[in-house]
Amino acid sequence: MNFRSDNESPVNAKIMQAIVDANTGFEESYGYDPYTLKLQEEMMQLFGCWCEVVPLTTGTAANSLATALSTPPYGSLFCYTDSHMNADECGAPEFFADGAKLIGVTGENGKINPELLDETLAGTGVHGEHECLPSAISLTQSTEAGTLYSMDELNKFKKIKQKYNLALHMDGSRIANAVASSGTSIADMTWKRGVDLLSFGATKNGAMLAEALIIFNPKIGKEIKRRRKRAGHLISKMRFISAQLLAYINDDLWLDLAKQANDLASEFYQQLKSTHEFIYPVQANEAFLRLNEEKIINLRQQGFAFHIWPGSTDIIRLVFSHCTQSSHVKMLINAIKSIK
Ligand SMILES: Cc1ncc(COP(=O)(O)O)c(C=O)c1O
Repeated sequence: MNFRSDNESPVNAKIMQAIVDANTGFEESYGYDPYTLKLQEEMMQLFGCWCEVVPLTTGTAANSLATALSTPPYGSLFCYTDSHMNADECGAPEFFADGAKLIGVTGENGKINPELLDETLAGTGVHGEHECLPSAISLTQSTEAGTLYSMDELNKFKKIKQKYNLALHMDGSRIANAVASSGTSIADMTWKRGVDLLSFGATKNGAMLAEALIIFNPKIGKEIKRRRKRAGHLISKMRFISAQLLAYINDDLWLDLAKQANDLASEFYQQLKSTHEFIYPVQANEAFLRLNEEKIINLRQQGFAFHIWPGSTDIIRLVFSHCTQSSHVKMLINAIKSIK
């Protein structure tokens, strides 16, 4: 019974079928195939605006290319201290941005505190050419803590971005969970809140190696084609990535899958919140729960797989995916309730 990661989930059957359906005959390579051209059109429909879609195979590639586009080698990008970009990408964003600096900013519940970010930015500039030039902000939605930036918070970041003339990137590795949970549209959550670049994730939510960088601001995105090639991410058989993304957004499949995962996380939270300590509010498809070591061992012996959060011995992370079975969640709830 897997609660370790949505990355460990299988591929959704409709998306797998889309790969099989795209596997007929020859098609143009490097993004000039009909699937990629159609995806470009459909994404513009989904977002309700002009955008450039860059199909990719990893979220790290999307985040790294976004950093490279938004932050010069002598610039800095502000992100949450424990964000995936800062903590789990082995320096790829800095590498692809030719040595730019990522600066971590903290806050509650896995989110950057906007007031703290404003203060930090207000304090820059005193060292002149000796310090990096503030160039971009990156927000993860939903966050690595399974929480959401509210619309009010996103509006604050939009103002900060405008005040300091910065680019705004969103790491949407789990954007589907965020949109499904909030009930707002993806347009409202992204470009209408000033987002210039979005890492649009699909792999965790049912796809096989399919992500996209969505560029809303053509000025910021203008060097994407060469940046992508130079980074080794211009995919020759792009049709197979684009076909997946087409199936993913078709008929709101992406939202249906995310809602299934979110609903299970929410049920888990509702059943245990009065008796157990949750580290963060459960707002998407992840829950962080404090349990003593004996209970953790006991759960593992019963066949429940999950991560103990790095740096702790008594916090476990449970991830609910589009393929998590409701019966497994019920068994997990009962097991946690019954262990003394
Ligand atoms: C929030 C977040 N962003 C980005 C990524 C990067 O994805 P990938 O492993 O495909 O590079 C992950 C992966 O777990 C993630 O959780």
